[in-house]
Amino acid sequence: MSSKNKLLKHVAIIMDGNGRWAKERFLPRVLGHKAGVAPVRECIKEALKVNLPILTLFMFSTENWSRPVGEVNAIFNLLRATLKDEITILHKQNVRVTFIGNIPALPEDIKQLIHESELLTKDNVLMNLNLALSYGGRWDIVNVVKNALLDKELIKDELDEASLDKYFNLLSIPDVDLLIRTGKQKRISNFSLWQIAYAEILFSDELWPDFSADSFQEAVDFYHNTDRRFGKINDI
Ligand code: FPP
Repeated sequence: MSSKNKLLKHVAIIMDGNGRWAKERFLPRVLGHKAGVAPVRECIKEALKVNLPILTLFMFSTENWSRPVGEVNAIFNLLRATLKDEITILHKQNVRVTFIGNIPALPEDIKQLIHESELLTKDNVLMNLNLALSYGGRWDIVNVVKNALLDKELIKDELDEASLDKYFNLLSIPDVDLLIRTGKQKRISNFSLWQIAYAEILFSDELWPDFSADSFQEAVDFYHNTDRRFGKINDI
């Protein structure tokens, strides 16, 4: 196995289980989301410790818009309450913060926060924290088609996987190497579909609020113990 294949460049996390964590404690779901902020901080800290170049967190999916309006508002209120302070800390840590998803669909003040966060941290180089908001893998693919159709220089017969890549929302971000999904369910739930084609996937039984620094480290160890073959055979 070439060491190039084993380099861990991009970890993505589907943070699931906040609602069930709250339910188990007879608490309102929103307190589950609130309890989900601490593990976000822990994972960022651990990612910096292992010199990870890119960490993508699936915060709010295209489908999450269908939740009761009270819950959607509660998630956005949590973002409002945490983003500003967290961005200041991340900026001090030399972390670049970017967002992917249908940003125009978000409330005005959140869009403003996103813009300010991206602007403030744009020259930071230690790690790229990429937050998926109002994001869906199929939404991303529809955009690829729209972007490609807008490109007057596109020659259909010259289109291949590498050239299609540039029309994605996750532009210039490499494929996901390790995808972690917490919360017991073994599904992708319309997360980035193209970029996880060869990702190693760890399904964790922990509910997101219980996910710890140790859990993140275990996931990294899991990745380093996998045999990445990309469809090839390594031992001949
Ligand atoms: C999935 O749990 C979680 C979300 C839809 C929200 C993601 C938010 C966080 C991780 C909190 C930290 C983030 C902010 C906004 C600063 P679920 O509600 O689907 O859980 P369930 O499957 O148990 O119902």
